[in-house]
Amino acid sequence: MSALLFLSLLLGACFLIRNADSLTLSSPMIHRFSAAASGDSPARKGSPEYYKLLVRSDVGRQKRRYRTLFPSEGSETFNFGNDLGWLHYTWVDIGTPNVSFLVALDAGSDLFWVPCDCIQCAPLSGYHGSLDKDLGMYRPAESRTSRHLPCNHELCSSGSSCNNPKQACPYTVNYYSENTSSSGLLVEDTLYLASSEERTSVHAPVIIGCGKRQSGGYLDGIAPDGLLGLGFGNISVPSILARSGLVQNSFSMCFRDDDSGRILFGDQGLPTQQSTPFLPWEGKYLTYIIEVEGFCIKNLCPGKINFQALVDSGSSFTFLPDDVYKRVALEFDRQVNASRIFSDESDWEYCYKASPLKMPEVPPLTLKLVVNKSFVVTNPIILLSSKEEGSVVFCLALQSSPESLGTIGQNLMTGYRMVFDRENLKLGWSHSNCRDLDNSSTITLSPPPHDRTENPLPTDEQPRSPNSSAVSPAVAGRAPTSIPSASSPQVVAQLVFLLLLAPLAVIISGE
Ligand SMILES: *[C@@H]1O[C@H](CO)[C@@H](O)[C@H](O)[C@H]1NC(C)=O
Ligand SMILES: *[C@@H]1O[C@H](CO)[C@@H](O)[C@H](O)[C@H]1NC(C)=O
Ligand SMILES: *[C@@H]1O[C@H](CO)[C@@H](O)[C@H](O)[C@H]1NC(C)=O
Ligand SMILES: *[C@@H]1O[C@H](CO)[C@@H](O)[C@H](O)[C@H]1NC(C)=O
Ligand SMILES: *[C@@H]1O[C@H](CO)[C@@H](O)[C@H](O)[C@H]1NC(C)=O
Ligand SMILES: *[C@@H]1O[C@H](CO)[C@@H](O)[C@H](O)[C@H]1NC(C)=O
Ligand SMILES: *[C@@H]1O[C@H](CO)[C@@H](O)[C@H](O)[C@H]1NC(C)=O
Repeated sequence: MSALLFLSLLLGACFLIRNADSLTLSSPMIHRFSAAASGDSPARKGSPEYYKLLVRSDVGRQKRRYRTLFPSEGSETFNFGNDLGWLHYTWVDIGTPNVSFLVALDAGSDLFWVPCDCIQCAPLSGYHGSLDKDLGMYRPAESRTSRHLPCNHELCSSGSSCNNPKQACPYTVNYYSENTSSSGLLVEDTLYLASSEERTSVHAPVIIGCGKRQSGGYLDGIAPDGLLGLGFGNISVPSILARSGLVQNSFSMCFRDDDSGRILFGDQGLPTQQSTPFLPWEGKYLTYIIEVEGFCIKNLCPGKINFQALVDSGSSFTFLPDDVYKRVALEFDRQVNASRIFSDESDWEYCYKASPLKMPEVPPLTLKLVVNKSFVVTNPIILLSSKEEGSVVFCLALQSSPESLGTIGQNLMTGYRMVFDRENLKLGWSHSNCRDLDNSSTITLSPPPHDRTENPLPTDEQPRSPNSSAVSPAVAGRAPTSIPSASSPQVVAQLVFLLLLAPLAVIISGE
């Protein structure tokens, strides 16, 4: 009964949070790779051992622990604003001959999938407002380096439903955003990476979801060209790269305030960075959860509050448990020196009018993370254009969530190099303009097919107003106000259900 109640609460919540939802709940999918035996027995062709050896030999040829690796097209990431659901994207090349994909980067999920042998995919052309070329489709049959992953592979989670252990492994991932899923077959193929130190091209065999059918948000302008899951799961690209010994078990994402950024595999950050531990759930590290133990607005730090939060680059905005949200928002409102405005059109509750020439000082927000670490939010507001000439509107870019688990979305990570140090099970952060990571990470090993060093939409022209969002969609038929950016697959949902169930049960039995 509580489960049902929860479900409806959650669905209701999603519905209410029109703009940026993205909490990343869901169901089984991830945590049931059978820990298949490896053993030293001679490997039959097609057996898990065979593939393991294959991977090992591929990697053996280039075995070397690089300090950092990044996609062969460069470490740059891009946020196209409202056009592509406010997520960060990067270009990756896969297969032989290689095909490029503009994939969304999602720390909240594991699988790397791309549109492939499409039965139902998002339109791959018509993005010329934001991109200067059409998006790619993957055809494993045309790639000399592709192999279907067999059902008996340890990373084939739906293996038990296969009729034949040799058949290609099917997958379905349901994401938290309503009706949003990707399904198809798992394939192993080459992902091209580059190393800044060695100036070499690294061919990494990874597992790719050949996404034949997408639904929901994925047909509506979110991740139309695929999603790169960066989670803890064994099937994720960071996990595969670390297991194969190419890099340390860590990666970083850097977020510039002009909506561009960087991704570096193997990056463990600076010795001087701050850090906070990741928290396990039932003894397992399934996703990037940290503990928040307080907040400050300017110098005022109300008493202790404790909540756990997902750190999720696949979430455009930030969600706080409702009681925390109210305290943060009220304190912000008390300290901001501007007149509040109320609008039905806005997805944000605390909005203020200001003169663009004389922006009031925005009281800084600091999150206190375990233990006694300060995470100073560079930019807690979102600027909207105003219908009134000569004025701008800014809003506190936080949303309330009915859940006890918060989500720290990419908007709070602006100005930071965020290090997902999976080896030491901690989140690290340090101020960065992202260019300081750059030295050689911008070298391209092959001439880039097109110039994309600049974000096509300069920050101040980003379609940030509810008004302009009606004009911007590059994808026909997308409702501009419902931008589910959620992208975490099922496992997280379960996690959240569980986390939520506990407090609810307490409330119920207490009454
Ligand atoms: C991931 O792989 C390791 C061994 O490679 C195994 O011990 C672990 O159980 C796997 N994790 C999951 C969630 O399957
Ligand atoms: C991708 O393919 C092009 C042309 O076939 C080739 O020149 C380039 O080197 C390839 N990129 C990588 C990273 O192998
Ligand atoms: C999800 O699918 C169900 C059943 O097809 C439909 O009733 C519902 O409106 C869909 N929700 C969204 C947000 O599209
Ligand atoms: C608040 O704003 C007004 C007008 O913009 C300004 O005159 C005043 O000095 C500000 N007060 C503080 C405390 O910043
Ligand atoms: C954290 O800070 C509080 C207050 O400043 C202090 O009482 C406490 O001892 C600190 N805890 C640790 C582990 O440093
Ligand atoms: C808002 O949208 C209307 C109609 O699309 C347009 O005429 C108007 O110029 C827009 N206002 C701003 C500030 O973009
Ligand atoms: C970049 O280059 C500068 C000067 O050449 C050097 O001091 C710095 O350590 C380099 N940074 C990285 C990340 O390699």
